[in-house]
Amino acid sequence: MAEQKATNVHWHEGDITREHRGKILGHKGATLWFTGLSGSGKSTVAVELEGVLHEMGVLSYRLDGDNVRMGINKNLGFSAEDRTENIRRIGEVAKLFVDTGVIALSSFISPYREDRDQVRKLHEDAGMAFIEVFVDCSLEAAEERDPKGLYKKARAGEIKNFTGIDDPYEAPENAEVHLRSDQQSLDEEVQQILSVLRERGIINQ
Ligand code: ADX
Repeated sequence: MAEQKATNVHWHEGDITREHRGKILGHKGATLWFTGLSGSGKSTVAVELEGVLHEMGVLSYRLDGDNVRMGINKNLGFSAEDRTENIRRIGEVAKLFVDTGVIALSSFISPYREDRDQVRKLHEDAGMAFIEVFVDCSLEAAEERDPKGLYKKARAGEIKNFTGIDDPYEAPENAEVHLRSDQQSLDEEVQQILSVLRERGIINQ
């Protein structure tokens, strides 16, 4: 947990609540936290789901590892410490989206269980839905796909601390959604997520 550095700061409550905002949108906010190896298909599922939700009139927004690392987190690398800070910041950003009433689609390798659990706690303590989506894919399949050519570079020693090669990935033990992206179709994956959103009362169609 990051320490609170600033002192003499006080939370300023407004008049408009999450419930008020939810009435405008007609659905609840939630964070869908996609975790899995690089190349497992996290971003692919998130993009497909975003399109389907859009067609349904449900507002979602994608937060994606590579994109965020070119902006708000451009000062972070891939050490364990930086990965933890990467996830902490995105957890806070996702929570802002949920508070707005939006479904945040966060796709980050997020290799450490403890970091993901911290983000879960952040949401649950605030009464917000946090749905972990394990995009499970064998290392062999991810490496075979190698969409960015990064596994090849990691095997050649040109990238150090690459997740799955010389850096760990701690798989979720109790994810709300468990996808097998090396066995299922994209449509099956999207339907599986939609049914959890319905069960949890986040969307009602
Ligand atoms: S995380 O571990 O901190 O959650 P994040 O999802 O933001 O990672 O970024 C992962 C993306 O960064 C990968 O999909 C890949 O494109 C790129 N990348 C570059 N170097 C590494 C590395 N050493 N390990 C993992 N991904 C890397």
